Amino acid sequence: MDQSYFPSIQFPVGNEFSPERYALGKRLFFDTRLSENNDVSCGSCHDPSSYFADDLPTSSGTSNAPGTRNSPSLVNVALHPFFTREGSVPTLEMQVLVPVQEHNEFNSNIVLIAEALDQDQELHDMSVLAYGEPITPYTITRSIANYERMIISQNSKWDKVQRGEQSFTSSELRGKELFFSSELNCGSCHVGFDFTSFEILNNGLYSSYEDPGLARFTGNEADSGKFKMPGLRNVAETAPYMHDGSLATLEEVILHYSEGGKHALQDERIRAFELDQNEMADLIAFLNALTDYEMSMPQ
Ligand code: HEC
Ligand code: HEC
Repeated sequence: MDQSYFPSIQFPVGNEFSPERYALGKRLFFDTRLSENNDVSCGSCHDPSSYFADDLPTSSGTSNAPGTRNSPSLVNVALHPFFTREGSVPTLEMQVLVPVQEHNEFNSNIVLIAEALDQDQELHDMSVLAYGEPITPYTITRSIANYERMIISQNSKWDKVQRGEQSFTSSELRGKELFFSSELNCGSCHVGFDFTSFEILNNGLYSSYEDPGLARFTGNEADSGKFKMPGLRNVAETAPYMHDGSLATLEEVILHYSEGGKHALQDERIRAFELDQNEMADLIAFLNALTDYEMSMPQ
């Protein structure tokens, strides 16, 4: 079986995979005690039944605090070079601290959470087994990252075709050709095992962005509207779309691109094209072939 198109997952030194670490991380990922009001867990916004995203434009955090960005799917995050929509967080371990502190997510404090959770004898024992120490900020961030690295999706129809196990329908095949054509140009950006080059760029969604994107991090006006390019695996199942969840369907996304983008500083690969109804259906059939209906997690 040729899997060379899909990189293997690397675990960092000091946080190698083990079933005990995975089990602790999984417990904590779904534990609402990480949030100030014990009402939200990581799994609330990154729900396994929604491919580790959710189906809302933006999601509320603890005490119903309104969020500002769309929850991205965590599928294949093990292979991402950086995290959050402006790419400002370098590792999955560090990323765990972001929702813990954010006012509109958990609004909490990792030291206090660790002290409280270590009072739970079962969690205490799981942590000792996994890392040789009680529940600490270190074991919380390490174990959740260990769990997240196992959220793998590589059994879509696309993968089966790559491995020679299935073939595309003629509609999917026409959609694939459109996707990678120089006219539509989707494949000049959405490339590789996850259908993203991971570039942080402006895809012309707005003429003026409410959310500054990368500019929030760099303070440089020219970075306004630049967001990390999401992968397209399972995209048919992770509506709504874009950093703010403003586009409800794949049709709306394709119409946005066909109009050629709205921003003066958008990436030059965004340009107008025409698509008739049959071609639209073919392109969507291809995007549907990226859904992994068997996505399963080791238990
Ligand atoms: C209230 C909803 C919410 C909760 C709770 C939440 N997240 Fe998120 N998550 C988001 C949003 C929204 C983003 C995008 C944030 C940004 O770009 O600033 C995100 C981004 C991420 C990313 C980066 C993904 C990428 O493609 O760069 C990871 C990893 C992640 N979350 C993991 C977690 C973990 C682990 C927890 C629990 C400790 C958690 N999230 C809790 C909504 C949530
Ligand atoms: C210049 C690079 C570029 C090109 C060309 C491009 N995209 Fe994108 N795409 C992006 C970026 C960047 C985002 C994220 C924008 C945001 O979050 O606001 C995105 C977002 C998306 C999303 C939303 C994914 C999600 O989970 O929210 C879909 C679907 C998508 N693109 C499909 C396409 C299709 C289909 C084409 C061709 C018609 C295409 N893209 C062309 C860069 C590009």
